[in-house]
Amino acid sequence: MTVSYAKKTVADIPVAGRRVLVRVDFNVPTDPNGRILDDRRIRAALATIRYLIEQGARVILVSHFGRPGGHPNPAYSLRPVAERLEQLLGQPVIFVPEAVGPAAEAAVRNLQAGQVALLENVRFYPGEEQNDPAFAEQLARLADVFVNDAFGTAHRAHASTVGVARFLPAVSGFLMERELTTLGTALESPRRPLVAIIGGAKISSKIGVLNNLLPRVDSLLVGGGMANTFLKAQGCEVGRSLVEDDRLPDARDILARAGAKLVLPVEVVVAAAPRPDALPMVVAADQVPPDQMILDVGPRTVDEFARICASAGTVIWNGPLGMAEVAPFAEGTLGVARALARSQAVSIVGGGDLVGILDQMGLAEQMSHVSTGGGATLELLEGKVLPGVAVLQDKASA
Ligand code: 3PG
Repeated sequence: MTVSYAKKTVADIPVAGRRVLVRVDFNVPTDPNGRILDDRRIRAALATIRYLIEQGARVILVSHFGRPGGHPNPAYSLRPVAERLEQLLGQPVIFVPEAVGPAAEAAVRNLQAGQVALLENVRFYPGEEQNDPAFAEQLARLADVFVNDAFGTAHRAHASTVGVARFLPAVSGFLMERELTTLGTALESPRRPLVAIIGGAKISSKIGVLNNLLPRVDSLLVGGGMANTFLKAQGCEVGRSLVEDDRLPDARDILARAGAKLVLPVEVVVAAAPRPDALPMVVAADQVPPDQMILDVGPRTVDEFARICASAGTVIWNGPLGMAEVAPFAEGTLGVARALARSQAVSIVGGGDLVGILDQMGLAEQMSHVSTGGGATLELLEGKVLPGVAVLQDKASA
């Protein structure tokens, strides 16, 4: 199935005075006390919300938060998110403690043009994840138009991302548009050379991405724990490093097809254990001592990746290059990120772990595009059709 990323947006339809149901992804990380640790996803939705306010729409926001499993659970209430949104917007946000039913319908009836309401966590209802048409119809009853701005949840076929589009005209929000345009262009008609950097712990979760990217990219740079499986497949001794032995045939197959496109670490950082007090050592990738494990890419690998990024037109990067959550093993990821920030390439980064570490070091803002998707970004890079995108009206349609 061919994928169309060109979808009608909220700017293509009349919204003044209308009730607009906006699916957002306010699934933000919080600490055990419910304090929001990172509001990137809320900030990313502001453009659409502000536009709708300015246009005099009646804005009804709907989101999930965590995985409460189809039952109400105060630990997963969106109330704290409503407060943060209110601060960011600089205007009141009416928190509606239900997502559907008479209370929600009454709250929406009272909503004036330019006002914003946030419904309670839509995953408090079993019909949401089951994509139950009756539940979707209840949601749709609240509005005249549906806008999907939840790129991070676009890989889920749920009532609030897919089902509701059967009952209402469905278009994308500006965040969704930006994600689709940026990632879609990188896949379909990138500024070349196109370079992909793929990291993360396991090759098993990225095989689909590697296979889809391989014919499209000019270079495929691999780091993180998943590089160990490739190194072992090439015959290197990798000591006590994480390796997925059952994926060695996949690694061999990709190596054979990729040829010179695939760039593996030439030098790695090893230690006896992934601990902050470990004594890291830099060794050649084919000389890992038997009692050590690979925990990061080494300086020569960083230089090589940096050199390739320096002449790239576009770089897509998903997943850290080492065990970046343990400070001594974040250096490789940060070194490549600094080089990417200095380059002229269109830089697209995604995945919660990578974005988290870049954020901490103030490097995320230096990238051209930071994707708000985790699983959604990966599925898009795999070439899969995202159900929450497929239901939106095509730009070309009447
Ligand atoms: C995410 O954080 O990746 C999205 O919000 C989707 O959440 P889910 O994996 O619980 O569906």
